[in-house]
Amino acid sequence: MPTLGLIGAGHIGSQLARLAIANGYDVVISNSRGPETLAPLAAELGPRARAATPAAAAAAGDLVVVTIPLKAIHTVPVEPLKGKIVIDTNNYYPQRDGHIAELDNESTTTAELLQRHLPASKVVKAFNHIQAAQLTTDGQPKGSANRRALAIAGDDAAAKKTVANLIDRFGFDVVDAGPLSEGWRIQRDTPGYGPRRTAEQLRGDLAAAKRYRDMK
Ligand SMILES: NC(=O)c1ccc[n+]([C@@H]2O[C@H](COP(=O)([O-])OP(=O)(O)OC[C@H]3O[C@@H](n4cnc5c(N)ncnc54)[C@H](OP(=O)(O)O)[C@@H]3O)[C@@H](O)[C@H]2O)c1
Repeated sequence: MPTLGLIGAGHIGSQLARLAIANGYDVVISNSRGPETLAPLAAELGPRARAATPAAAAAAGDLVVVTIPLKAIHTVPVEPLKGKIVIDTNNYYPQRDGHIAELDNESTTTAELLQRHLPASKVVKAFNHIQAAQLTTDGQPKGSANRRALAIAGDDAAAKKTVANLIDRFGFDVVDAGPLSEGWRIQRDTPGYGPRRTAEQLRGDLAAAKRYRDMK
């Protein structure tokens, strides 16, 4: 069975772990406080899940998700993620993360920051614009009418395809927002950030997105 490694096991990490287990993956969860603090979640997830350190979760994952406060991405282990696809769910909230000048002046995007930290990994932005609880309530089988869609962004076409397949398995259509540099189109305060959208609606939202500087 493929293994999903999770760095961060909070609202989003725990929900992605549940979806992965339900879809036949093995799961390795991690946080900053140590595997023992994740014993209740590991027990809930069952025998195909285990808790580990972030480095061990990174090493074990065929696919690895980074889903932690953005301000902590510099702590993500680099070496064990070399060559791997890394899914980035992170959003920028200055009140939580502190001010990051390059995001305030919109010269880069959240996922490009993670890509810079992980130069030998293939970062794909995903799962950043859906509320955690909805990950396990809004999925539907492929082909369902009005199926909810989620956006991805990334610079590696094959990595995007792999993540798109994962999202489809998890119950959602996929809309490609382009390279990581276009990830801002689905950042906080854009039209597609939060609401339930079909693929067609989400494509419209991405096209209509405005930079923060143009929102004033
Ligand atoms: N909540 C949502 O609905 C939602 C939706 C889309 C995207 N997001 C974004 O996804 C990311 C995660 O959100 P969340 O709501 O899941 O956050 P959360 O509930 O606060 O969970 C964060 C997780 O990361 C762990 N963590 C913190 N620092 C870490 C580090 N240095 N190394 C490893 N693990 C670390 C935390 O555990 P310890 O503190 O024990 O280490 C916790 O398990 C954020 O960037 C958020 O903006 C959230």
